[in-house]
Amino acid sequence: MEITKYLNKQLVNVQPSNILAFANFAADIPNIVNFTLGEPDFDTPKHVQQAAIRSIQANHSHYAPSNGTQELRQNASDFLAAKYGQHYAPEEIIVTEGATEAIYTAIVSVLNPGDKVIIPTPTFPLYIADVTVAGGQPILVDTSATDFKLTPELLADTIAHEGPAVKMVVLNYPSNPTGITYSQAELDALADILRDKPIFALCDEIYSELNYDQPHASLTKTLREQTILITGVSKSHAMTGWRIGLLCAPKVLTDELSKIHQFTITSTATVMQDAAAEALGNGQDDALPMKTEYQKRRDVILETLNELGFQTAKPSGAFYIYTKIAPDLEQDDEKFAYDLAKTGLVAAVPGSYFGPGGAHYLRLSYATSMAEITRGMTQLRQYVVDQRNESERI
Ligand SMILES: Cc1ncc(COP(=O)(O)O)c(C=O)c1O
Repeated sequence: MEITKYLNKQLVNVQPSNILAFANFAADIPNIVNFTLGEPDFDTPKHVQQAAIRSIQANHSHYAPSNGTQELRQNASDFLAAKYGQHYAPEEIIVTEGATEAIYTAIVSVLNPGDKVIIPTPTFPLYIADVTVAGGQPILVDTSATDFKLTPELLADTIAHEGPAVKMVVLNYPSNPTGITYSQAELDALADILRDKPIFALCDEIYSELNYDQPHASLTKTLREQTILITGVSKSHAMTGWRIGLLCAPKVLTDELSKIHQFTITSTATVMQDAAAEALGNGQDDALPMKTEYQKRRDVILETLNELGFQTAKPSGAFYIYTKIAPDLEQDDEKFAYDLAKTGLVAAVPGSYFGPGGAHYLRLSYATSMAEITRGMTQLRQYVVDQRNESERI
């Protein structure tokens, strides 16, 4: 008997992560400089570590309330209000198992089989997998011609074309993989298209503390009733392994969404919640020194890429650079990335792995030390020079 035939049919449609496959391939190459993964290289702040130790010693070893401890939800509420003018009462916040679970809970809660979700691409691939598992249909909208932003025209045209099955639009700003973000005016214009339509906005703002050129803007300011906000401490406080995310929405929605959370997770680890409460309570500016360092790294990489003839829209947030391979080099981004890893000892993810609009691009994560970045840029320069010399010889 072929037992896998009897699994959920949607699983067959979910592709295993080619980003991880590439990262694993690169990790096995000695001396490679790794620009693949979105994992901050900073340590979790000391005061947060101490809070976790205190929590263990105080025997906080039992279930927390399903939606999260009162202290964490209050601190999250205060943090969002103070930092971004976003107003969510503690009962409008669910503490999730990283932003990843918040995204899953939101998508599974909204979709009925056959519903459509508009996903601007290039995109973080998780949304596509979750929509597929939920029996929905991802509608991928290529934004490469509009500076990697969903414009009101693109959004309106897609809604008109796809019809009433459209139930959700995903926005991620600052963006993984492009580092692009939106101004408040751009988001307001998108809100105008969505307002009063039965369409939810899933706003993934996990990189909100890493905006370099402008204050963080948000759709929650103008379309609160229809928006599900996803955030957390993974990137802001270098806490990816602590697995604490936040899902925020009007109470009528969190009352419903909390059922999915409750029946999949019960509650996240109490000790981790105590640590996250410290991060958001007493560590409101913990991201600032990291941001200063990330910005310096971004500028070093951008300078080299420009010098080598790679075209890059200046990323204004997160810790990714999405760059177009110089036109005189190999244009198949997957071939280019594998060869660059093997012979140039630099690992950058092929841009096409992030969906339509990503062909000929590479994603570089600069969540790695300046010393590694300097070494990586020297190796990249050498690789490109070698390729150019070789093509002259042919
Ligand atoms: C855009 C985006 N959303 C969500 C996540 C997942 O966050 P978490 O680790 O808190 O689950 C990531 C992680 O890389 C991300 O890039």
